[in-house]
Amino acid sequence: MYPQVLFQNRKPDRIATLEEYRKSGGYEAITESLKNRSHKDIQEILLESDLLGRGGAAFPAGRKIMTVSDDAPYPRYVICNADEMEPGTFKDRVLIHADPHMLIEGMLIAGYAARAEKGIIFIRPEYENAARILEREIGLAEEAGFLGENILGSDYSFSIDVHRSGGRYICGEVTAQLNALEGKRPNPKQPPPYPTEKGLWGKPTVTQNVETLCCMPHILRNGAQWFKDLALTEAGAGTKIYCVSGKVNRPGCYELPMGVKLSEIIEEHAGGMKNGAEFKACLPGGASTRFLSREHYHIPMDFNSLREAGHRLGTAAIMVFDEDTCMVAATLNLLEFFARESCGWCTPCREGVPYLKDLMWRIEHGQGEEKFLSMLRKQSKYLWISYCAFAPGAMSPVEGLLNDFEDEVMAHIRQKRCPFKGGE
Ligand SMILES: Cc1cc2nc3c(=O)[nH]c(=O)nc-3n(C[C@H](O)[C@H](O)[C@H](O)COP(=O)(O)O)c2cc1C
Ligand code: SF4
Repeated sequence: MYPQVLFQNRKPDRIATLEEYRKSGGYEAITESLKNRSHKDIQEILLESDLLGRGGAAFPAGRKIMTVSDDAPYPRYVICNADEMEPGTFKDRVLIHADPHMLIEGMLIAGYAARAEKGIIFIRPEYENAARILEREIGLAEEAGFLGENILGSDYSFSIDVHRSGGRYICGEVTAQLNALEGKRPNPKQPPPYPTEKGLWGKPTVTQNVETLCCMPHILRNGAQWFKDLALTEAGAGTKIYCVSGKVNRPGCYELPMGVKLSEIIEEHAGGMKNGAEFKACLPGGASTRFLSREHYHIPMDFNSLREAGHRLGTAAIMVFDEDTCMVAATLNLLEFFARESCGWCTPCREGVPYLKDLMWRIEHGQGEEKFLSMLRKQSKYLWISYCAFAPGAMSPVEGLLNDFEDEVMAHIRQKRCPFKGGE
């Protein structure tokens, strides 16, 4: 059994209360920091811990906060990104339902490190229960003196609001989210300026994922080296919440050391393949990552190892496919999502993703032609010149399909039907 850090207070049927969180050492990190640490000390500890953003882009959290310059204007904001619309990803919801005060303390720490006075939790509308839990627990934290004016008698003040998203995938992208919060159309804005310089309402803004923020109280309480040592691989740091779905016996969220092998996650934690079937492939980190095929079955699941293999850990949402899964149908399913969710701001993505979806639909439904392969490849290249990271993400499964499962695509085209008889 590996150490449970983020899930240490997790219960099967209810959230951990404020008292339970405090009993496990909760709010000690911020109490100690307000007394004995400067905001610079906190930035240094976070940087040293090698905490990488858990929302998909793996940016170092300490470095991001450090880019808020000392003479930057006020007010400054910390945004918790709880949009979580990446298909297959449900770790942030589970974390909020497990231990909401861990997130609140994480926001306080990020806020203190950036000397921000306002926090906003941007949450997807389907997570109404989580939003209500957070609103209630924020009220309790205020009553206990952990939020509000002059926290614990210090000169630091910080408050948190919960904001429900309008409900589009693009609202999870950091700059589109700022537009959404300002009441504008949520299309992304290319930096510079970066949000830490000019973010919400033109003021410095640090956006972090739920899981990234939840790591912060533990790092401050136990130290940067302790956090690094939690990982199984040299390049990893911390634990990771892997959310496993698809053809396994026990789908769910598992907190495991960063760098644990994919085969171990599937066989020992997720209960093995359903009906004893063969592992064929998985998406290692949500819908916007490339299929990982059988040759990588034993790969260490950390950011670095996947990058070296030409893949991405993304959100570590592992969707498992077995030998009976039609990879064309699986890719079509993902493209239907991406075609619907394209924000429409730039032409390559707005026109290109539905075009790819249509080609894939025709292949899956027995209307494919051999020339479609080169059309898919050509169109995929155009998508790399789109305005934001959405389109390259949408491309990733298509590239994985063409790279590792071209024979399946060709079988569809030659047989003029889906060889899996409808597939997934
Ligand atoms: C289309 C798109 C959707 C995204 N959705 C989310 C999301 O739901 N939650 C999230 O934390 N990050 C999401 N991101 C990544 C954010 O832009 C950003 O990198 C992240 O919130 C930063 O937090 P982190 O450094 O703690 O990971 C998305 C990115 C893109 C391109
Ligand atoms: S790549 Fe897609 S999601 Fe991003 S700005 Fe262009 S249309 Fe919008």
